[in-house]
Amino acid sequence: MRISIQQAQDLLNKGDVVALPTETVYGLGASIKHPAAIHTIFVLKGRPSNNPLIIHISDKSEIEKFGAVRDESFEKLVDAFWPGPLTIVLPVEKGLIAAEALAGLSTAAFRMPGHQDVLEVLKGTGPLVMPSANLSGRPSATEIKHVESDFGRDFPVVDGGACQKGLESTVVIMQGGKWVIIREGILSAEAFMDVLGYMPKIVGAAGGTKPICPGQLYRHYAPKAKLTLLKDFGGVKGVVLGFAGRQYPVGCVVWELGSVDAPDTIAEGLYRQLRRLDEEWIAEAFVDVDFPEEGVLKTVKERLIKAAAK
Ligand code: TXA
Ligand code: MG
Repeated sequence: MRISIQQAQDLLNKGDVVALPTETVYGLGASIKHPAAIHTIFVLKGRPSNNPLIIHISDKSEIEKFGAVRDESFEKLVDAFWPGPLTIVLPVEKGLIAAEALAGLSTAAFRMPGHQDVLEVLKGTGPLVMPSANLSGRPSATEIKHVESDFGRDFPVVDGGACQKGLESTVVIMQGGKWVIIREGILSAEAFMDVLGYMPKIVGAAGGTKPICPGQLYRHYAPKAKLTLLKDFGGVKGVVLGFAGRQYPVGCVVWELGSVDAPDTIAEGLYRQLRRLDEEWIAEAFVDVDFPEEGVLKTVKERLIKAAAK
């Protein structure tokens, strides 16, 4: 059910949960003033209780209320990337944020999203916790119809159109004096070079040691369809998520993810294509993963590996 920005503010302020557009993916918002609404988010998504939520703000000064510990390099990150697809994890004062939202951690993740509609909503509500608007484990929602498919047509949602970025924000935390990436996202490690003077290490990703980003522990981004990741398509028949300008054998029905020369377009459409597999009742698809693991394509690869995991 489409709702206006004003209606979204009213619902959130009285303790309801609504879906909101951001530049990355749609989110399920709840006011941090309403612990019951925060709990509802975990129930609606089927989200494990040890997976904390990102706090979304419209002004960086709001962080001060939570006693968040910041330094000069935090300011650099904020100046360079906010509003935008960067989530920054900071130590916070105990007891100021509902424990359920933080999954009991002593840190909180903050992001100022770069979408006019959600910024407008935030101005009338104050900070909102907002995980991606999908059932736990499924691909994130980048269009209203994805939100409706997971939560029903009556679920209140602000229509912000298709999300411009299509992949979630990059999550960073300070470790040993340097920022590290604990969830890869639409901002690649390379994107930080000019701002920080170094490329943050990626930690806690698949195959690493114990993840410090709880969300990394879970299966993610997966359609119901079985995905097989391939570099060689000899003998393959069926639906192939492939790239423009490439030849695939006869018998392959190619759904294009875009051109490898335009990674942003691939990112923008990735979840749409994964969700389309289920919309069209495709039981199995083969994904071309013959592309360089750099920039945004590194995140695309990480998402595909997770989506294909059993
Ligand atoms: O682009 C995005 O980040 C979207 C939009 C809606 O803003 N949100 C999103 O939220 O992707 P979610 O809940 O799907 O993913 C948040 C990730 C999870 O992996 C969670 O474990 C991690 O951020 N996270 C949240 N708080 C954390 C904390 N204090 N320490 C470490 N990781 C944290
Ligand atoms: Mg998510």
